Amino acid sequence: MKRPIAALAGVGSYAPKRIMRNAEFAALGLDTNDEWIVQRTGIRERHIAEPDETNRTMSAAAARMAMERAGVVAGDLDLIVLGTASPDRLLPSTAVDLQAEIGASRAAAFDVMAACSSWLYGLIVAEGLMASGNAETALVVGSEKLTSIVDWQDRSTCVLFGDGAGAAVLKRSEGGKGILSTFMRSDGNLAELLYRPAGGAAHPFSQQVLDDRSYFVKMEGRETFKYAVRSMSEAADHALARAGLTGQDLDLMIPHQANIRIIEATARHAEVPMDKVYVNVDRYGNTSSASIGLALEEAIAAGRVKEGSTVMLVAFGAGYTWASLIVRF
Ligand code: COA
Repeated sequence: MKRPIAALAGVGSYAPKRIMRNAEFAALGLDTNDEWIVQRTGIRERHIAEPDETNRTMSAAAARMAMERAGVVAGDLDLIVLGTASPDRLLPSTAVDLQAEIGASRAAAFDVMAACSSWLYGLIVAEGLMASGNAETALVVGSEKLTSIVDWQDRSTCVLFGDGAGAAVLKRSEGGKGILSTFMRSDGNLAELLYRPAGGAAHPFSQQVLDDRSYFVKMEGRETFKYAVRSMSEAADHALARAGLTGQDLDLMIPHQANIRIIEATARHAEVPMDKVYVNVDRYGNTSSASIGLALEEAIAAGRVKEGSTVMLVAFGAGYTWASLIVRF
């Protein structure tokens, strides 16, 4: 196990007030129902951002909570890393909008794009920049307004996703607390199993793009499911091995919240009993890069993460990308 460099000094989250329950999809003319969605995914409801709620406002709310809990002010931050698959604009980054919103004028700010793995990728990048002396106090945020990029006519995807933000402030580790091990990987050969075909530079916006709805998220659900289980299991193995720990040593595992069956399969593989796995996919759906931060903030508030707790975070997302991280609080 390496000596920790970065500690999670404060964690924050934000979820829009508006809650949409599974039964509401029928009113949109979709042939789906609560029973199907709950059985296949474990999702019962999700939070939906209002038109005036953006990644700028949601990420700032999560960031302010994390900063207050870490005892830092915006002027202390020298790094902001933001993960999002649903940026407010394509240029510039959402991270600089967050920087302006909170007034973190000393920071370098940029986005990382690893879809649902972005928050863990962001934590690992920030830890590396702290190790190389480029940052002392970092803010890492995952923020998503996925409901603006899913196709509300496609029942196989739109029922899965929700909006929100999660954030952590990283400070230099003291007393053995902090990130104990990390792992990250991707496979770009699988990019088109979960992607937005058009709207970027390769297929810019056009009338045809609008007509064929190719700017919305497309997903091969079954393939994604299989790879998610395999990749999150691999990520868990690597983080545990690198920390010299086993599943039994963990106080809590917080997997990316996409689907209860993926979470259960990953936990079984890692030999972590479900009473040590944090689950809130039923109330948020898949919030992509926001999911693990949202769940971690809830777990801390619920007393499930205390001083001394060893927690494993595991993610999987489009790319495909996958990552894991073990942290001692
Ligand atoms: N309501 C009702 N029926 C639905 C539906 C919905 N919301 N979505 C799909 N179906 C139908 C399909 O059209 C299909 O019908 P058919 O047999 O008549 O063709 C049937 O249900 C089975 O579809 P399939 O895609 O094989 O179901 P599944 O058991 O694989 O479940 C997912 C679908 C999307 C829930 C599942 O594949 C999954 O969770 N995949 C991973 C998704 C994920 O987590 N992505 C993000 C990763 S970060």
